[in-house]
Amino acid sequence: MVIIGGPASQLLAGRVAAELNETLALCDYRTFPDGESYSQIQSELDDNIIIIQSTPTDRDLVYLLQLLDICQGRPVKLVMPYFGYARQDKIFQPGEPMTARAVATALNPFLKDGSVFLVNIHAPSIMIHFHCPAESLDATSLLAGKIAAMGLHDPVVISPDKGAMNMARTAARALGCDCDFLQKTRLSGTEVSMAPQDVAVAGRDVVIFDDMIATGGTMATAITMLRRQGAKRVYLAAVHPVLTGSAVLKLYRSGVEAVLATDTLDKGVSTVSVAPLIARAIKS
Ligand code: R5P
Repeated sequence: MVIIGGPASQLLAGRVAAELNETLALCDYRTFPDGESYSQIQSELDDNIIIIQSTPTDRDLVYLLQLLDICQGRPVKLVMPYFGYARQDKIFQPGEPMTARAVATALNPFLKDGSVFLVNIHAPSIMIHFHCPAESLDATSLLAGKIAAMGLHDPVVISPDKGAMNMARTAARALGCDCDFLQKTRLSGTEVSMAPQDVAVAGRDVVIFDDMIATGGTMATAITMLRRQGAKRVYLAAVHPVLTGSAVLKLYRSGVEAVLATDTLDKGVSTVSVAPLIARAIKS
């Protein structure tokens, strides 16, 4: 088996290779002076190839296409820990693309005898756009495991909307506590408001679970609201720490106690590794 770590997933690829005790390919990634991307796999390939590459940016998607092109003709297991454009899973307004489908369509020709592993995909409907076996792995219990070890006071798990309620239920089961959700209204691309809910959080430690934190707007509003309702400490647990711009500042200004996230994206808050989850999925 050869594990190819894309530029956005080098640390995670290293961790998966260590979990599986398999070879990590030597790769070179560069940018040409005109801004185009360049990839080279310098190790020998066999017919058991794992590519691990998140696609938080368009450039990362191009690197992934290049890696797949190098491996074409061989069966590839593609691991996309963070699948960019997952929130463009529908045509919201006339004249818009369904970009999540466009991305899957671009990848399909390289995956004829392959398979895809995603992690907590934002919308499960995206999976049907892959023409090969596709699976979304669930990292919720890994995050919950870390939280369980923190000894929280009378914890309650909150989902910032109905969409993350499944995650919240799984986490609450693992922690043996209650869960609830907040009603969210998106005001613009970067602003959200939350209608007050009658959540019994006073004097309790609250953990907000979501699939991703992007601008931090959703979480910052939720933290502020829950603190106003008397929550003792508010923790955030998210699978994908996209964290654009000043998201981290926003969260700490709102009074978050700690932010926990996985290494589907390699950020300072990525303290929970999904490597064991991915290694198990590859083995099975
Ligand atoms: C939305 O449906 C997602 O689950 C997240 O709640 C959202 O994408 C977070 O975005 P932001 O951090 O920009 O508020």
